Amino acid sequence: MTNKYIYFVANWKMFGNLKTLNSLNKVTSFVKKSKRDKFKIIYCPPATLLSPLNDILKKTSIKLGAQNSHESENYGAFTGQLNSKMLKAVGARYVILGHSENRQLGESDNLINKKINSSIKSGLKIIFCIGETLTQKRKKLTKKILSQQITQGLKKIKNKKNIIIAYEPVWSIGSGVIPKKNEIVENVNFIKDKIKGIKVLYGGSVNGKNINLLKKINNLDGFLIGGASQNSNNFIDIIKKTFN
Ligand code: PGA
Repeated sequence: MTNKYIYFVANWKMFGNLKTLNSLNKVTSFVKKSKRDKFKIIYCPPATLLSPLNDILKKTSIKLGAQNSHESENYGAFTGQLNSKMLKAVGARYVILGHSENRQLGESDNLINKKINSSIKSGLKIIFCIGETLTQKRKKLTKKILSQQITQGLKKIKNKKNIIIAYEPVWSIGSGVIPKKNEIVENVNFIKDKIKGIKVLYGGSVNGKNINLLKKINNLDGFLIGGASQNSNNFIDIIKKTFN
């Protein structure tokens, strides 16, 4: 990889508790010993762990991110929801939006667009997930879907400097299967042609084995890592291998 620095984003999904946070001292001491300008690490724990994790990460270069946000940056009568202002207040600097697991629960491109807008207003950086399903891939609709998700998700958003795209083929998430190298190269180029200067991460079953292949993809700016990020040793292993 030839980029200035590589992003490693840990998406813990609905996993983790206060005890799990203890294992992160392995990651924080690894980061302290490493060259800082090589990578950016962002941890996105469940909302229950944002505040305690913020206390741990405060003294490190690791940044905190949330996994979703309500579309309004204002307070309101929305039971169970959290807005971008609240996330920012507990230390989050990033938020993952448009994840396929939330799209599958009914989040539309339009709703994701509102979430991106309000999160930008609150001063968060966005990790905006896009990707095709297996059926769409088989029907050769990948580029059409990516294009649609980008156009609608980023509608009326002029300043894209705080947006990072995570290209996550839905069929690859949690399946252990990743696309062929040339497919990733092609789709990432397609995204970068659509939005000049945007950073693009790859996400979907990234692990300590396939990182040896994924790290050779020069147009990538990093990785969004689910399952393998929940174990500190596995996560560190991925980072180390990227630079070996
Ligand atoms: P995975 O998840 O690494 O477990 O496939 C990635 C994601 O959903 O962001």
